[in-house]
Amino acid sequence: MEVILAKHAGFCFGVKRATQLAFEAADVGRETYTLGPIIHSPQVVQRLEEMGVIPVENVSEVESGGTIIIRSHGVAAEELEAAVRANLEVVDATCPFVKKAQEHVATLSKEGYDIVVVGDAVHPEVQGIVSYAARRVYVVSSGKDVERLPRMSKIGIVAQTTQSFEHLQDVVTACLARGGETRVYNTICDATAVRQDEAKKLAGAVDCMVVIGGFNSANTKRLAQICRELLPRTHHVETACQIDAQWFEGVKKVGVTAGASTPKWIIDEVINRISAIDKDKIS
Ligand code: F3S
Repeated sequence: MEVILAKHAGFCFGVKRATQLAFEAADVGRETYTLGPIIHSPQVVQRLEEMGVIPVENVSEVESGGTIIIRSHGVAAEELEAAVRANLEVVDATCPFVKKAQEHVATLSKEGYDIVVVGDAVHPEVQGIVSYAARRVYVVSSGKDVERLPRMSKIGIVAQTTQSFEHLQDVVTACLARGGETRVYNTICDATAVRQDEAKKLAGAVDCMVVIGGFNSANTKRLAQICRELLPRTHHVETACQIDAQWFEGVKKVGVTAGASTPKWIIDEVINRISAIDKDKIS
């Protein structure tokens, strides 16, 4: 059985950086906290907890002098300010691509633009981006939503980093149709699209797909869904011990991919487990 791993499986740049910063902070041995789980990988969160890095819901739960790590998708400006006011050491692991979107919103609103953010209003990344606006700000998910917005003479548009280009395009077209001055920053990061495109190609070329990542990870669930639509023999697992030998009956080629918050050690364990099943079958 041939096992083919997608080229861009696992950690994206921002998650890799955030995880590294968290492990480095844990190594220093000070009381360290993360605002929510650092990434959507229960296994990474557990490893960090064993090293003394504790997820908290709120800055107020951290004692003065403690270290707080900001997650890759960022936090609201007020939360960051609260951490500084509380005299906490802040390790800002906000992905630089998310930071860029926050900065564009701050600059645009200073320059008199009302802001339109293309994204999911309840996602923490979007809530963080929105908090940097000093003027009116609206979150929309499509061009249709733009029709419901009040009159604006200057519109500044940014996107949640994981949005599709088509969504952004749709919103920009609707804003342009309203007239007025429109300025657009394409703040989409292609890590998600690259993983999805590769997963599609791989699912079309193998007999069985294994998608690895947290059951709480939206991008992993989406990868599994995309693969399953093309190949019903798709299985979503968090760890190697969830692999079932029966999945590979009659399989010649198995494709493996992983969400952007899946660490390499888990991908390696899954591949080793699949390869071991194959050897067992032969012997
Ligand atoms: Fe950053 Fe893109 Fe990952 S925005 S956190 S590199 S998906």
